[in-house]
Amino acid sequence: MLVAIVTGAGNGLGKAYALQLSKLGAKVVVNDTGGNRHGVGQETGAADAVVKEICSLRGKDFAVPSYSSVEHGDSIVKTAMDAYGRVDIVVNNAGILRDVTLKNMTEEDWNLVMKVHLNGTMSVTKAAWPIMREQNYGRIINVSSASGLYGNVGQANYAAAKMGIAGFSLTAAKEGGRNNIKVNVIAPLAMSRMTETIPSTADVIARLQPEYVAPLVGYLAHEDCAVNGHIYEVGAGWVSRVRWQRSNGIVFPKDGMTIDTIAAKLDVIENFDTDATYPTSLFDSLSACEAALADEKSN
Ligand code: NAI
Repeated sequence: MLVAIVTGAGNGLGKAYALQLSKLGAKVVVNDTGGNRHGVGQETGAADAVVKEICSLRGKDFAVPSYSSVEHGDSIVKTAMDAYGRVDIVVNNAGILRDVTLKNMTEEDWNLVMKVHLNGTMSVTKAAWPIMREQNYGRIINVSSASGLYGNVGQANYAAAKMGIAGFSLTAAKEGGRNNIKVNVIAPLAMSRMTETIPSTADVIARLQPEYVAPLVGYLAHEDCAVNGHIYEVGAGWVSRVRWQRSNGIVFPKDGMTIDTIAAKLDVIENFDTDATYPTSLFDSLSACEAALADEKSN
């Protein structure tokens, strides 16, 4: 029997993930503070309603609520350990918005979003980590966003947190791999109270439902999951992998790198059509420098 923690599972996407995982047989800790989409307020009803739904579908001990904020990962993991004695799956999904342009953003807007998304993801992961290492098994799904991967006006705080979650996850995947802990990232798209103000056509809205995202979470949480450290975009039934692409670039000769030579060679620096690569590690950067210098010497 597998045990899953889904944060922010009282609404929207998190609720769909909790239901999906329970359908696959997992017992679920349904975590939610029950605040509004700006992170204001607190109530137990959101988590309780999802617990009730899972228990009525699966059986009475198939879900338990946790009302802690994700900033307190220890408390959420303790709920899982007290109820079920293990943690196999963590879906770091909880989120809030404080959308505002950089010009008008307050430190509070920044800190609140960072605290829930980035610190929360770290806190729950860190609390589950020793348990997963000990049992040599873990599946962690972290939630990023196209806003973070590509940038979005009015969301510098949210985008920074979401890109941070991607970087955090790529590192956790490298560290966890040897203990069979797989950490992957999704950037979902679905209508929820978080996205209700985004304009779209009726057709698209009809398909942009959490149920078209949840199966990917089910796959990444599965014991047969074949991937680690991958980032996926997913929405409306569309699933796609995102990766870095790097141009082959150029090596300037010693003393030849100036503002003018960079401007003159910008088209080469930015050329992805010839010999572009897909780096996956820091060492890929180091070896690219080494290869470029070796090339220079041999010429
Ligand atoms: P939602 O607002 O419906 O659900 C988020 C849930 O997180 C809420 O139930 C809320 O009470 C809970 N929550 C907020 N702060 C919390 C905290 N400190 N501790 C525990 N729970 C907390 O939003 P939605 O759309 O379902 O989003 C889920 C995740 O997916 C978020 O991380 C969001 O950033 C991400 N996302 C959603 C997209 C979409 O299209 N809906 C797009 C890209 C990313």
